[in-house]
Formats: sequence, structure tokens, C-alpha cells
Amino acid sequence: MLDSEDDMKAILHSSATDILVSRQKSRIDATALLERAPPRYAKLASLDKSPATETDKALDDAMTTMRQGVTGMVSGRVDMEQIAQSAASARRAVEAAPDLFMQVTRLKTKDKGTYLHSVSVAGLMAQMAVMLEFDEALVDEIGRAGILHDLGKLLIPNAILNKPGELNAAEKRVIRNHPEIGYRHMKKLGGVSDLILDVCRLHHETLDGSGYPLGLKAEQIGTAVRICTVCDVFDALTTVRPYKKAWSTTEALTWMYDKSNLFDRKLVLRLGSMFR
Ligand SMILES: [Fe+2]
Repeated sequence: MLDSEDDMKAILHSSATDILVSRQKSRIDATALLERAPPRYAKLASLDKSPATETDKALDDAMTTMRQGVTGMVSGRVDMEQIAQSAASARRAVEAAPDLFMQVTRLKTKDKGTYLHSVSVAGLMAQMAVMLEFDEALVDEIGRAGILHDLGKLLIPNAILNKPGELNAAEKRVIRNHPEIGYRHMKKLGGVSDLILDVCRLHHETLDGSGYPLGLKAEQIGTAVRICTVCDVFDALTTVRPYKKAWSTTEALTWMYDKSNLFDRKLVLRLGSMFR
């Protein structure tokens, strides 16, 4: 949300190559600010026209239901219905307009960061499952796994998760432990499927065994987990961050394709085929 001129200045000083602004939602005069944007911004698009508004709305819905579902899970209640609804909204948004979906999810504010990331990954994962011709029940389960894959992050104190400066070694260890934290929490709650537990615990494993927490090798890593890893990394690379260049869809896919020691090439290609 653009609340103040400072928010806008922060964006203008970042390495972002595109800015998409919803003028309806902004609390400041975004039009005037955009006119002052440096010339390196070749394209200034507006999100006010449909279908971007529809994508926006579907993502808002997905985040609202996700928040409710996840809040319940953090306090010990499992309501998979809400998680499923959230995944379904995300999937619809990708299905309707994959390119637009990626544009909208590129900008993630700090407070919405983990939520929007999970919603984005869930949408991409479910859509990949559709393209792999999995049956409807499995598509839904994979979507739910996407919503819940980073649950461990939401259990980490915000002071560490959103710390502005560099993290110290102990804090890094806490962050790196998020797959295990999420896994143990859901395992204790009960009523969560093995597929969802696996995706949560293993989504930072890589094919060559250099990942974490278990250092598993390719043959020990199932398809649902591999789908999550590919979508997770892709979403992270294409997200705009103050400290790094925002990668285009093509740059991210090319980089990942070349890292066949880490990621499943077939799945990277499948993901890429969504944007053609
Ligand atoms: Fe993660």
C-alpha cells in the first residue's frame, strides 16, 4: 500500500524496472508521483483496468482466507476448508492470466510478503499440477501444500523475519529452520496429509543433496516437493527487493534451467510453458 510519498520514493530508488500502481487503492496522489518518475521507467502501467482488478481481487480473497486458516493453525485449530479456499482463489488467478498474475505478485510489501508469497506459490503449484494432468483431488492437495509450505516462517518472531539489517548467525539458523518448525507444528496438530507435511519439510532440498534440512538426493524427493521448490524459487527470483535486481520471468526460468543439479528441468520447462 502506498501510504506516503516515502513509500513511493523507496520504490523509485530501488532497482525495479517496472512499477504497477493501483490508483484507486493508493492513499496518495500516485499519478503526480508517477509523472516525476525517472525516465528509466519505460512503461508505467495502471492496474485499475480489469482484468488486473480481478487478479488483484482474487489475490486479496486468497490472502484473507489464508490469514484466517493460518491464524487458526498457529493457535492449534486445523480448518483445511479455508486453506483449500485460499488455494482455489490463487489457482483461478493464475489460470485466468498467468502473466498478469506474475506482474501483480512481483511487488510484495514487508507485512504481506510471506502471505502473498505463499498464495503465489500455491497458485503456480496448482496450475502446474493441472498441466501435469493430475486428478482434481491431487491438484487441490498440491494447492493446499503451497499455501502451507512456509507456515514455519509465520511461526518465527517478526523481529527476526522482518529484520531490516543483516541477520546474525543465530538468526540465520532460525530462518533456515523454518521447514522443520512448520513440519513439526503441523505434525503435532494432526489431520495434515503426508504430502503437505513433505512439501513443508522438504521444499528447500535440492536434487544434488546440497539442500536442507535433510540433504536428501534426487531419488528421495517426490514430485509434489519438486514442484514446490521450482515455484518457490521462481517466485523469489521474480519478486522485487530493495537489495537485488528484479528478474524477469525469462531470466528466472533460464537461470533455473541451467541449474539442473538443483532443480528438475522438466518442471522448469513446464512452468515456463505457462507464460506462453
Ligand atoms: Fe521456505
